[in-house]
Amino acid sequence: MIFEEKKIILKNGQTAILKSPCVEDAEKMLNYIKKACGETEFLLRYPEEWDISIEKEEAWVKRLLAAPDTLDIACYIDGEVAGNCEITFRGGMKTSHRATIAIAILREFWNLGIGSAMFEELIAAAKGRGTEIMELEFIEGNDRAQHLYEKCGFHVVCVRPNVFKLKDGTYRSEFYMQKYL
Ligand SMILES: CC(C)(COP(=O)(O)OP(=O)(O)OC[C@H]1O[C@@H](n2cnc3c(N)ncnc32)[C@H](O)[C@@H]1OP(=O)(O)O)[C@@H](O)C(=O)NCCC(=O)NCCS
Repeated sequence: MIFEEKKIILKNGQTAILKSPCVEDAEKMLNYIKKACGETEFLLRYPEEWDISIEKEEAWVKRLLAAPDTLDIACYIDGEVAGNCEITFRGGMKTSHRATIAIAILREFWNLGIGSAMFEELIAAAKGRGTEIMELEFIEGNDRAQHLYEKCGFHVVCVRPNVFKLKDGTYRSEFYMQKYL
């Protein structure tokens, strides 16, 4: 799915562009996600788990743009990837009323309103598609994310204890949230 380019003004007055990533930016996308995974323990992978080639990343972006059930929106600041989010509309007769969200923004751009702007677009897309339930998960302790999600109308529905184990051997729970449209 393609997201039509949109300009947003951040809390610090900077301009950012929300748009679908393009295949030419595959390397930028890969560098962004590796960096993001090294900046926080609240994403699902460590940076070294993104050890994939540019060609594979290009193929992933191509697939994404052509996928009828996934909308990916990247945030560009001064031509560089500052963040990315994704909504996946589920298939299947018993699950097509649901859509799942993922989001990650580089640390230097946290708290500037990018996440809020992205959620506005994701919620609008879900409403346009007739989705009934939006869902997402976050890792225990991610207060910034939880605040954003609750502000956008999501509620914690259940907790799965100890589903993540970090390098230091400590465990983290996963919180599952829903928003009914
Ligand atoms: C979580 C994340 C997506 C939020 O995006 P963002 O662009 O920083 O979000 P916004 O700037 O739109 O909003 C952040 C809100 O959190 C609030 N906030 C900041 N730090 C906070 C904290 N420690 N506790 C609670 N709220 C906090 C801000 O005040 C702001 O609230 P407001 O809009 O009511 O003023 C982003 O920080 C991020 O990508 N983090 C790292 C990766 C990650 O955690 N991804 C989510 C995985 S589930």
